[in-house]
Amino acid sequence: MKIGVPKEIKNYESRVAVTPAGVFELVNCGHQVFVQEGAGEGSGFSDDDYKETGAYMLPTIEAVYAMTDMIVKVKEPIAYEYNLVKKNQIVFTYFHFASSRELTEAMINSKAVCIAYETVTDAEGTLPLLTPMSEVAGRMAIQQGAKYLEKPIKGRGVLLGGVPGVPPGKVLVLGAGVVGVQAAKMAAGLGAHVTILDINMKRLRYVNDVMPSHVVTEFSSVYNIKKHIKNHDLIIGAVLIPGAKAPSLITRDMLKDMRPGTVLVDVAVDQGGCFETTMPTTHDDPTFIIDDIVHYCVANMPGAVPYTSTLALTNVTLPYVLKLANMGWEKACEQNGDLRSGLSIVKGEVVAKELLEVFSLPLV
Ligand SMILES: NC(=O)c1ccc[n+]([C@@H]2O[C@H](COP(=O)([O-])OP(=O)(O)OC[C@H]3O[C@@H](n4cnc5c(N)ncnc54)[C@H](O)[C@@H]3O)[C@@H](O)[C@H]2O)c1
Repeated sequence: MKIGVPKEIKNYESRVAVTPAGVFELVNCGHQVFVQEGAGEGSGFSDDDYKETGAYMLPTIEAVYAMTDMIVKVKEPIAYEYNLVKKNQIVFTYFHFASSRELTEAMINSKAVCIAYETVTDAEGTLPLLTPMSEVAGRMAIQQGAKYLEKPIKGRGVLLGGVPGVPPGKVLVLGAGVVGVQAAKMAAGLGAHVTILDINMKRLRYVNDVMPSHVVTEFSSVYNIKKHIKNHDLIIGAVLIPGAKAPSLITRDMLKDMRPGTVLVDVAVDQGGCFETTMPTTHDDPTFIIDDIVHYCVANMPGAVPYTSTLALTNVTLPYVLKLANMGWEKACEQNGDLRSGLSIVKGEVVAKELLEVFSLPLV
């Protein structure tokens, strides 16, 4: 199969969908891989790295779409790319169709086969192509939070690990899912005192089993949250209610109970955020201050660490790319339930039921 890897053109996106190691695997299986010049630069891979593993380099994004049977990307196609997608071409990427009717209609009109990373679901019901980005964001939340706790950037001036004779900083994590556990692990590693709250007792039992004793679990309730925000330095929002907006666990009114310079990192910003005062920010201008409380609410945190994020993402996407390339999409989706759940739009027909409901599209 001819596989195309375009350079991502969405703002703040430096990841690439296939690494030179991925090209090596695909070429070994007899496929041809066409990579746009410069596609890997943002993630630390040069055109020469790709050429060495057998890729053909193409100068333009138009050529990559025109030459290939399957496009493997990171972010959803943006308007400029809509007309480049060809009839019957497989497009395997994050689509997040539900947030854009325009994209959905463009992909219906393209008559391409669209398989969405974010809905690929494994036998345990988890989303294997979302997990690595949650892992990156969870770990980054502490790195960013520790930075914004510094006084020159309006934080409380607390060193999370403390020093001999001075107690460590206190980190409160709301949600003990993938993001929350990774955040708790990083904070604990720095020596901070960590409190992690969830409404799911299974998750709290798991955290209690695997974390050191300075990570304390508690049930998530308004009472407990109100109690803890008064004396924690860094608060991480990491809750998710699948298919719904995140609940506002910290209201505007509660900010006055926190100490000035407390830092809030709302990782759940992409689901509306779990603090009432959350507003999406970008890596160019990641924070804002309300009532002396520093807010960090970047919606694509992994974008700041493209080298790590690219490797983490491609580790999990490559096995699926290989299946699609080796078997073709029909056989691959027939034999593999994970990929089947990623099928969203096939040659002009919406096959993902949830998508039909979101846009009230007619059943075909
Ligand atoms: N900003 C970014 O760059 C970025 C990157 C990756 C993920 N995310 C977002 O981070 C959020 C968390 O993702 P995840 O992968 O950890 O999800 P997850 O499903 O693994 O975990 C969410 C946890 O929240 C818990 N929860 C639900 N209601 C709660 C409540 N009231 N109090 C406490 N806990 C509650 C759930 O029980 C669950 O354990 C999602 O919104 C996801 O989209 C953002």
